[in-house]
Amino acid sequence: MDAYILAIESSCDETSMAIVKNGREVVSLSIATQIDIHKKYGGVVPEIASRMHTEAITYVLEDCLEKAHMKIEDMSAIAVTYAPGLTGSLMVGVEAAKILAFMYHKPLIAVNHLVGHIYANNLEEKLEYPLLALIVSGGHTELIVMEGDYQFKRLGETMDDAVGEAFDKVARVIGLSYPGGPSIEKLAKEGKHTYLLPNPVNDNTYHFSYSGLKSAVINLVHNEKQRGNEIRKADLAKSFQDVAVDELVRKVELAFKNTGIKRLVVAGGVSANQYLKEQMKKVSDQYGVKLLIPRILYCTDNAAMIGAAAYPKYLKQEFSDYSLNVSSSADIV
Ligand code: KG4
Ligand code: ZN
Repeated sequence: MDAYILAIESSCDETSMAIVKNGREVVSLSIATQIDIHKKYGGVVPEIASRMHTEAITYVLEDCLEKAHMKIEDMSAIAVTYAPGLTGSLMVGVEAAKILAFMYHKPLIAVNHLVGHIYANNLEEKLEYPLLALIVSGGHTELIVMEGDYQFKRLGETMDDAVGEAFDKVARVIGLSYPGGPSIEKLAKEGKHTYLLPNPVNDNTYHFSYSGLKSAVINLVHNEKQRGNEIRKADLAKSFQDVAVDELVRKVELAFKNTGIKRLVVAGGVSANQYLKEQMKKVSDQYGVKLLIPRILYCTDNAAMIGAAAYPKYLKQEFSDYSLNVSSSADIV
């Protein structure tokens, strides 16, 4: 029998719901983004985010059901992101999921947001194992080996800032709007790699680090301002993007060499970046690795990926009870 999962995602600044059939087919997807509001503040304001989720959630639910021509009664389960993310934002989604599960007697499935990002790839092509998963989002930078569904082994993660966070902070310091990633990418297209910036961690480990690169950009901007020099913003954006992405490529290449794994999936908001896609394609081709990156809609936060990640749990009947709580910092492994 087909399984229809109603999935809810509200971990940051997107209120999203989706109906996903058998973990792979998106029947409907609704996303209410708060970007325009947070833009004014240069970043996500948690209190505003949770209030906006509360305002949006019923509308998003109606929209999602309407688009699918389905009712909650038709659902096999309700899935929700419970971690990691902003506590107040996560709470809105989790409470909504609990209420729906209780009212309509549906099983409740708790999904980790990062696992959701990885399974976004399953919406494009059925995941095959073993695979390497590179998570590059606003809050996380991790390289993971998966031997099967929900079998995660972490090779490495960032020791400080996430790569998306670095994009956001660098964008802010050169006066670009939030979210920084798309702004930097757009400007970088007009620039050349002329600024000399330090490589993050140029060693043979799987550790990532982005605070040094971020500080280097901030210092450079301050120094140039003090000297009364004009900053070539497009060149700086391009120089930063190159160094940030090349670091990811280096770690991925190391994993290709050490593990011999021939599949790579890239997940999270930063994988929307065109330069990243090109570089990952290049290195994957070089090592005969099959590369999978979701379409942009499934790269950034959305509930369809949560529905995809909920499906293996649904099959194994790994359900949560109503004591399910949010967690701002749950690990994937
Ligand atoms: O996965 P996501 O939507 O939310 C989190 O789980 O964090 O990722 C958001 C991050 C932000 O840091 C944003 O600047 C970055 O992804 N991002 C990009 C691009 N689009 C979004 N970074 C680089 N290039 C992009 N095109
Ligand atoms: Zn995300």
